[in-house]
Amino acid sequence: MQAKSAGSFKNKRGYPLLFLEKLNIQQVRCDVLTIFPEIINAYLNESILKRAQEKKILDVKVVNIRDFASGRHKAVDDSPFGGGAGMVFKPEPIFRAMDALKEDGVPRRVVLLSPQGKPFDQSMAEDFSREEKRFVFICGRYEGIDERVNISIVDEEVSIGDYVITGGELAALVVIDAATRLIPGALGDKNSIEDESFSWKMLDYPHYTRPSEFRGLKVPQVLLSGNHNEIWLWRRKEALRKTLKARPDLMEKIELAGEDKKLISEIFSEEID
Ligand SMILES: C[S@@+](CC[C@H](N)C(=O)[O-])C[C@H]1O[C@@H](n2cnc3c(N)ncnc32)[C@H](O)[C@@H]1O
Repeated sequence: MQAKSAGSFKNKRGYPLLFLEKLNIQQVRCDVLTIFPEIINAYLNESILKRAQEKKILDVKVVNIRDFASGRHKAVDDSPFGGGAGMVFKPEPIFRAMDALKEDGVPRRVVLLSPQGKPFDQSMAEDFSREEKRFVFICGRYEGIDERVNISIVDEEVSIGDYVITGGELAALVVIDAATRLIPGALGDKNSIEDESFSWKMLDYPHYTRPSEFRGLKVPQVLLSGNHNEIWLWRRKEALRKTLKARPDLMEKIELAGEDKKLISEIFSEEID
């Protein structure tokens, strides 16, 4: 993320929003190295990430690694030394793609998406959303990339979970999405970040919308009451209830506020009844 002038912000009628130019606007800046640019572009061109790019708080350059492959077939994979199943991502096209990126002299933090990496979580997303350097996300394929890329180019490996997916593209998008959501202005309503799962270091509370009754299922009365204090307490309690049931491991990390202990004892007595 980088502090940057928002020179191109305009209001609905197209007038420049001059006051924004005086503000420092945070930005996630990254290059995504992939052999499937369409996968990355398809996701970037929808919804919040599309709007984040329009607002200049997300800047992504998608680089097709195959453009840096040599030979008639532009092969990016080869069989593994030592034998074994599958193919290995060749080092040369990735090194060449990195050389081309480095020509602009911009400092970069190079992340390899890998099931062997550090598990990605909300605090890492926060760290990424505050990064001053430009990121490079390298999306592996096949059995993985030639280890020399890891040794010479990569600063850190990041995993989106203890399972193996086919390529790093989905993982890169998960990281970019989670980090971008945390930049002020990415979401329409800043409260949406503050209320989400993990922001309270616990899971999110249940959400309801109209109709207030559907197929005999009623929205909890307190949410219709207009009493903001009662609504806050109900949400806090239901977030605690969900966390206790689904992710009790998170309870150790939560700094309990005064009313939380009372809410938890209420939950325990309700669940026993
Ligand atoms: C089929 S996987 C290779 C798995 C590798 N042979 C292993 O067992 O660790 C191909 C690519 O998908 C990406 N990938 C797969 N699972 C991932 C995960 N959990 N987190 C991040 N990237 C992942 C990586 O970029 C990886 O190089």
